[in-house]
Amino acid sequence: MSLSVSRRLAAVTAFAVAGLFAATSPAALAAPTAVAAAPTPPDIPLANVKAHLSQLSTIAANNGGNRAHGRAGYKASIDYVKAKLDAAGFTTTLQTFTSSGATGYNLIADWPGGDPNSVLMAGAHLDSVTSGAGINDNGSGSAAVLETALAVSRAGLQPTKHLRFGWWGAEELGLVGSKYYVNNLPAAERSKFSGYLNFDMIGSPNPGYFVYDDDPTIEQTFKNYYAGLGVPTEIETEGDGRSDHASFKNVGIPVGGLFTGASNSKSSAQAQKWGGTAGQAFDRCYHSSCDSLTNINDTALDRNSDAVAYAIWTLGAATPVPPGPSFENTADVNIPDSPAAAVNSPITVSGVAGNAPATTKVDVNIVHTYRGDLVVDLVAPDGTVYNLHNRSGGSADNLVQSYTVNASSEVANGVWQLRAKDGAAQDVGYINSWKITF
Ligand code: TRP
Ligand code: ZN
Ligand code: CA
Repeated sequence: MSLSVSRRLAAVTAFAVAGLFAATSPAALAAPTAVAAAPTPPDIPLANVKAHLSQLSTIAANNGGNRAHGRAGYKASIDYVKAKLDAAGFTTTLQTFTSSGATGYNLIADWPGGDPNSVLMAGAHLDSVTSGAGINDNGSGSAAVLETALAVSRAGLQPTKHLRFGWWGAEELGLVGSKYYVNNLPAAERSKFSGYLNFDMIGSPNPGYFVYDDDPTIEQTFKNYYAGLGVPTEIETEGDGRSDHASFKNVGIPVGGLFTGASNSKSSAQAQKWGGTAGQAFDRCYHSSCDSLTNINDTALDRNSDAVAYAIWTLGAATPVPPGPSFENTADVNIPDSPAAAVNSPITVSGVAGNAPATTKVDVNIVHTYRGDLVVDLVAPDGTVYNLHNRSGGSADNLVQSYTVNASSEVANGVWQLRAKDGAAQDVGYINSWKITF
């Protein structure tokens, strides 16, 4: 390829100045493109949730009376949930693990679309103990999460976040399935979670309305839902860490959830505000053979199923945050022909609090006669290298491209570099400009 590149002299390094933003009026700064109003969360039909519970009850009855890890009733439960999700357009993954000498299964269902770098997940354990069918523990959470996923499909929801749903195996053996899932997530995948919502026992027959006291945003979302109903809630205290959210929390993922109580007793104050029977367990059939279809309070299951959907719609379709400040270097930097050392174009970032976002945007403008020659990296202030371009694109001219980099482990302030290196002889070019947006 012939080359005629005008070599403009980089007399001025034109950095955007952080102070500029402070001086700009808020109205001029914000100007986000029009965002559709968040869709109204649906009313999840209780009848549908209960139909799933009937199916789980039948599955237990046909398989020795339970749906426990390692038993036929567990696999049949997974197959039932998976078939519903597959038919509704989810991308499902069956994950197998071994526990106590038996094969266990997690089911993961991804709703196509949304920001892959911002994952909102809801989950429930699908296994029962061996003593019974496990309809409240945890058919209730499993059925509510399933019906919410099906409602996402019915609505054709196009959420901002990427939605994922999970059904865990062997929770009753010590959160085995969810631990296995989390432990097998690469660190880069873990960092993409915006939150994990857990639903374990949400239809207790003598119900309390408990909200997990974990991530403040998730907690507030559930409280807002219940405030709308005029139903008081309390913080969940019957054993923090006793369900699958603990597996996520342990690796730093924000968690939350709902719970209607297990073997703890309802106090008279609780009976006064919620009804039901004081001095009696929230679930007298907890881990017993009587955890059957009759072991459900319909009002609690109905409210909590709607709460699952409310949280998914609200947290999943949150208005996109308008882009933060941008910094640009428009000075040309010559990229000498191979073999030669890499060249750098610096941008000094200041006035940005905390770390860079998971959606740090890098706009690259490189003039070159053969972009397949180029290796281009973003180098963070601490020297961490994020490869943007690695000699793809063949003989096409120029590299004018926008990249999203998960730079959430980097402090934003400092000197960032765009680094370019030419990997093949003959064609040459220069960094025309680049921009980083937080
Ligand atoms: N599946 C849980 C268990 O058997 C039930 C449970 C007890 C629970 N305490 C909890 C679930 C607190 C959520 C929060 O241990
Ligand atoms: Zn249990
Ligand atoms: Ca070259």
